[in-house]
Amino acid sequence: MKLLSLCLNPSVDRTMDCPSFDVRSTNRVHFVRDDIGGKGINTAVLASRLGAQSMLSLPAPEADRERLSAFLRREGIAFSAVPVPGRLRVNLKIRTESDMVEINEEGAPVSPQAAEACASALEDAAAPGVFCLLTGSLPPGVPDDHYARLIPRMREKGCLTAVDADGGVLKEALKEKPDLIKPNLQEFSRLTGLQPRGIGECCLFSRRLVARTGVGAVCLSLGGDGAVYVTKDEALYAPALQVPVRSLHGAGDSLLSALCLSLSRGDGARAALALGCAAAAAAVSLPGTEMPAREDVEALLPRVRIEHVDI
Ligand SMILES: Nc1ncnc2c1ncn2[C@@H]1O[C@H](COP(=O)(O)OP(=O)(O)OP(=O)(O)O)[C@@H](O)[C@H]1O
Ligand SMILES: [Mg+2]
Repeated sequence: MKLLSLCLNPSVDRTMDCPSFDVRSTNRVHFVRDDIGGKGINTAVLASRLGAQSMLSLPAPEADRERLSAFLRREGIAFSAVPVPGRLRVNLKIRTESDMVEINEEGAPVSPQAAEACASALEDAAAPGVFCLLTGSLPPGVPDDHYARLIPRMREKGCLTAVDADGGVLKEALKEKPDLIKPNLQEFSRLTGLQPRGIGECCLFSRRLVARTGVGAVCLSLGGDGAVYVTKDEALYAPALQVPVRSLHGAGDSLLSALCLSLSRGDGARAALALGCAAAAAAVSLPGTEMPAREDVEALLPRVRIEHVDI
């Protein structure tokens, strides 16, 4: 069982608790915590925790190279870290008693050479039937069609590809017919111009997207309403599990990582969506940016119900 992840825009997720936050005055921080983050890192961490051989390719900014490497080693992830100048970008989350403000840095530019080095490391790790996850925004310097160019290269090696991105990056990637995409509702609407209402329309519009673009599967995630999984001949719905919600961080990444891992080991769509849904529920029930452990996911799995949707 193996999974490949690419993380071109890694970050430090800095969580600060400020009991009150007022832009016009000095604010007191009661708690601060830093976690290594970024979508591809999250998917790699979850895959490793679920027992997969997890491989990650990423640029490693010089100033944080040691810290990044130590973290990935601790998580049991095999990684290729391409040296780039600078430091990790900081994604700041300021939590007050009632709200959260998010301030995300753009990230250091990644040169075409570094982006290519990350791409060839992925190719080197490729194996038939293994999913390669292309997720997240692209750093400055990397063109919108980067994932689109990687899809045929990975397919050439027998890999399956999944894309979780937004806007132009997702649009370009679709032209190369990835095996799976995982938009949330906002991303789906920006892509299609449609606003599905209800599970039936989510499945119907996803089916039309499959037919129009040739993408293998659409896993449309609906936050607290769950997720649908639609291919040309199957439409499934997984209502979200009722769990205490502590932090929404990493929900989408957990869903995607577990779903693809399960599909690549030959589980059917139902079992794969169920594992994805259990992993996502485990992620939201943990505080902060912590990714779930295998036991957290396995404990929730028996509670997941998958429904067939007629469209
Ligand atoms: N409040 C919730 N309760 C239970 N499960 C949830 C909740 N919110 C999200 N989930 C689970 O997480 C999955 C992914 O959530 P969501 O649709 O918000 O992803 P996303 O917008 O891509 O998130 P991300 O910020 O990680 O990119 C959902 O399909 C659902 O299974
Ligand atoms: Mg998402």
